[in-house]
Amino acid sequence: MSSVSVGEQRVQAPFGRRAATVRSVEHHGPYTALQVEDDGGPRPLAGQFYMLQTAAGWGGGEDGRPYLPRALSFARVGGEPGDLRLDFLLEAVGPGTSRLAECVAGEDLMIAGPFGNGFTLDATRWPVLVAGGIGLAPIVALDDEIRELDGVRSSALVGMRDAARLLAADAYELVHTAATEDGSAGHHGFVTDPLASELDAGAQSGREQSVYACGPPAMLEAVRALCAERSVPVQLAMESGMACGFGACYGCVVPTVDGYLRLCVDGPVLDGSRLETALVAGAGH
Ligand SMILES: Cc1cc2nc3c(=O)[nH]c(=O)nc-3n(C[C@H](O)[C@H](O)[C@H](O)COP(=O)(O)OP(=O)(O)OC[C@H]3O[C@@H](n4cnc5c(N)ncnc54)[C@H](O)[C@@H]3O)c2cc1C
Ligand code: FES
Repeated sequence: MSSVSVGEQRVQAPFGRRAATVRSVEHHGPYTALQVEDDGGPRPLAGQFYMLQTAAGWGGGEDGRPYLPRALSFARVGGEPGDLRLDFLLEAVGPGTSRLAECVAGEDLMIAGPFGNGFTLDATRWPVLVAGGIGLAPIVALDDEIRELDGVRSSALVGMRDAARLLAADAYELVHTAATEDGSAGHHGFVTDPLASELDAGAQSGREQSVYACGPPAMLEAVRALCAERSVPVQLAMESGMACGFGACYGCVVPTVDGYLRLCVDGPVLDGSRLETALVAGAGH
């Protein structure tokens, strides 16, 4: 396996917000996939994120007070800078994501990004990709990057609440081992069960592995702990509440062994060795 590093360099976002247009909308179970035309941004790295809002109707309450833009990881990138297509995968859990899920083709958005640090792939080790829930988005993006590399193969494990949510993994043609909490598809239980088996099988066969994960905080913490017990390197794409996305508001700080970090500029992907826990207060899902 060749030694290749993806994501070592941060891709810098252009200054300010820019207009972008929804090209298509698809629904995969309870998840919504927006494909967005971005003619003003650079090609992002898997794990980076954007701040999104609709150009119209972005606000609530009696006075229509505007919401803050919402952070979303991109799930897939196509085309070239000047004519990029970005896929976002979202679950409507509150006012911002509900408004985005109502978007129709041709609707205008305002976006900023790509922000943060993406995954850094150590292609000297077998990559094990782990997605939980809507954390699937950056894992699809990382799988796409890996598939573009010569001679690098990976395993992907996807955990969802139910089979309906797995439709999104199938829609993005992610070859994966599935786990569902209700047992409606794949392993009945948490995705960390097949992860433990995968890591133990790897250790027995002498295969060096590296884990890349995104999902809810409890899942990320279980993944971090499993990897720490086995001395397997792990990178976690984390979440915290984000107001600006570019380092100005300090709303996204998370505790690490090196002190507090702003997740939007020092993350959202953090090395597991920098964390005592991935259970960060204020994290979204
Ligand atoms: C770097 C980064 C990348 C992200 N990528 C994605 C992504 O690709 N797709 C995506 O859908 N979201 C993603 N998020 C999460 C998203 O930005 C937040 O969930 C956002 O706050 C949603 O805004 P809202 O107005 O809809 O809900 P809010 O009003 O902000 O939240 C409403 C309530 O729902 C809770 N909540 C938030 N998310 C969930 C959830 N998934 N399930 C259950 N309860 C929840 C909140 O804690 C809050 O209590 C990302 C966040 C970060 C920081
Ligand atoms: S979101 Fe404002 S500093 Fe990170």
